[in-house]
Formats: sequence, C-alpha cells, structure tokens
Amino acid sequence: MALPQTAPTTLPILNNKGGIGKTTTAVNLAAGLARAGQTVLVVDLDSQVSASLSLGLSRDQLSPSVADVLFGDANVEDAIRTLDADPVDLLPASLDLANADVSLFNADDRHHRLARLLDEVEPLYDFIFLDCPPSTSLLTLNAMVAGDALLIPVSPAYLALEGVVRLGEVIKQARDSLNQTTPVLGLLLTMVDREIDNTEAVISQIRTYYGEKVFSTEIRHDDSLVRAAEQGRSIFAQSPASPGADDYAALASEVYERAQQHRVSSSSPAASSQHERGTTDLR
Ligand SMILES: Nc1ncnc2c1ncn2[C@@H]1O[C@H](COP(=O)(O)OP(=O)(O)OP(=O)(O)O)[C@@H](O)[C@H]1O
Ligand SMILES: [Mg+2]
Repeated sequence: MALPQTAPTTLPILNNKGGIGKTTTAVNLAAGLARAGQTVLVVDLDSQVSASLSLGLSRDQLSPSVADVLFGDANVEDAIRTLDADPVDLLPASLDLANADVSLFNADDRHHRLARLLDEVEPLYDFIFLDCPPSTSLLTLNAMVAGDALLIPVSPAYLALEGVVRLGEVIKQARDSLNQTTPVLGLLLTMVDREIDNTEAVISQIRTYYGEKVFSTEIRHDDSLVRAAEQGRSIFAQSPASPGADDYAALASEVYERAQQHRVSSSSPAASSQHERGTTDLR
C-alpha cells in the first residue's frame, strides 16, 4: 500500500514508565510507514541505545550520534545513517546522552535545541519519530518541544488506569513548565495479552475513559518482536507474516490518517483552541 507524500510530522513516543514498548513502537511503526512509501527518520534519544541496536547498528557504530549533534560536535546531516535491512533513516543515540541534562542545563536553548537542529532535516522526511527515555529529563522536554503531537504507548499488563491518569498529570506539568501545548496524537495499547487476568477490564477502562484518543489498533504480545529487535531488523524485515507485523502495519495506516487530520486541524483557525483543550489531560 503506497500512501501519498505529506508534510513532515514529528512524533515523540513517550511514557515515563519503562519497558512498555516505546522503542519497539518507534522502530516498527517507522518501518511500517517506510514500507508504505513514506520517508521516515527515527531519532534515538535514549542513552540505553535500544532503538539504534534494534535497527541494526552495533555499539562501535554509534558515533557520531545525536549527543554529538546536540553538544555541537557534529552536523545533523553527517550523523544520520541509512540502514541495510530497513528503508528507514536513523539518528543514533550513544551513552553520552546520559550527560545531556548536565551539559544542557545552563544553555539558553536547553529546551529548544533539538527542535532547532531537526528543523534542518525536517524537509527531507514525511515522519520523524523520537524514541524517548523512560523519564521526564531535559531530553524528553526537548522532544516535546520538537514534536507536533505525542504518541503514548501504554501496556495493560503494566499499567492500570491510575497510571495513565498520572501520566496525564506528568504531561500537563511538562506542558505548563514549557508553556507548550503539544497535543496527543493517540494512546497505543501495547503488549496486549488477553490471557492475562484483568487485561480485558483494564483495556475497557482505558477505552471508556480516553475514547477516541486510543488507537483502535492494539499491539498484541508477540515474541517475534523481541527476536526482530535482537536481530537488528524491523518486524517487517524479520517476520513479515507475524501478528506483530500485522499490528504495526495497521497502526501505520491509523497514524498516517490521524497525522493527516492533525495537519488539517493545526493549520485551521480553530487549531489553537483545540490545542488548549488538549492541555488539561490526555483527551
Ligand atoms: N508487543 C510485544 N510483545 C512482546 N514483547 C514485546 C512487545 N513490545 C515490546 N516487547 C519487548 O519488551 C521489552 C521492552 O520493550 P521496549 O524496549 O520497546 O520498551 P520501552 O518502553 O522502550 O523500554 P524503556 O523504557 O526501557 O526504553 C523489549 O524486550 C521488547 O522486545
Ligand atoms: Mg526504549
């Protein structure tokens, strides 16, 4: 399925909870859109470097990284890699990102530096995914400032509704402190396993509470996704007939549709009031 080309949309993938499928979503959603003809960049903002390894880089190939770009030691164009297994571009992370909070702390542009650097390459891409660390660090705030809309994975296995409400508060606080009104593109249910007790009830609570903000696509628990990451390839390159490939292809279509609607609404006069509504919670 080839989708029409679009203006660039930068989507941070964030949740301060760890291990709930942020990186898996960044990598495989990017690959799904790329396979549908979109030009896509993944920016790895986590010093754990999981997205970079999941897309096939080895630890000795991480330099120059987004840390070098942020700290002024490399140009963004020089740090972007094309990949062997997937038609996705990657701006890799490195362990140095762990120092970002300290290195950027006194900079005047400490919240806006990533946005400014990405401005240079945005014309080259239809979508840019920012894989965020599981914390509300300066890097996450930079991602929120650079982003057009947030994509928030939640796993019913690890997160009851109270956790999602808390996440809403964290996002509101971050938005307030930055005076920023980045809207939420959608909440994504990940690692869904209905065999686990209570899953159905948690999903139904989240869907009732957040309504249409929740993507209708759910990412099922599928060990093929773990194996693909270990092999440094997307699920489409590694196991194209797996449930994980079906789910991320469906998500790619849904994200594409929502991004189109978001572009229309953010260029309309009603956009600012819609953004303001989005600052009160995740809805
Ligand atoms: N749908 C899924 N089914 C099975 N395993 C999955 C699924 N999604 C992710 N995983 C596995 O769960 C682990 C955590 O996923 P991932 O790294 O994407 O989470 P994360 O939110 O990025 O974690 P962190 O907060 O540490 O960055 C990984 O081993 C990954 O391969
Ligand atoms: Mg991650």
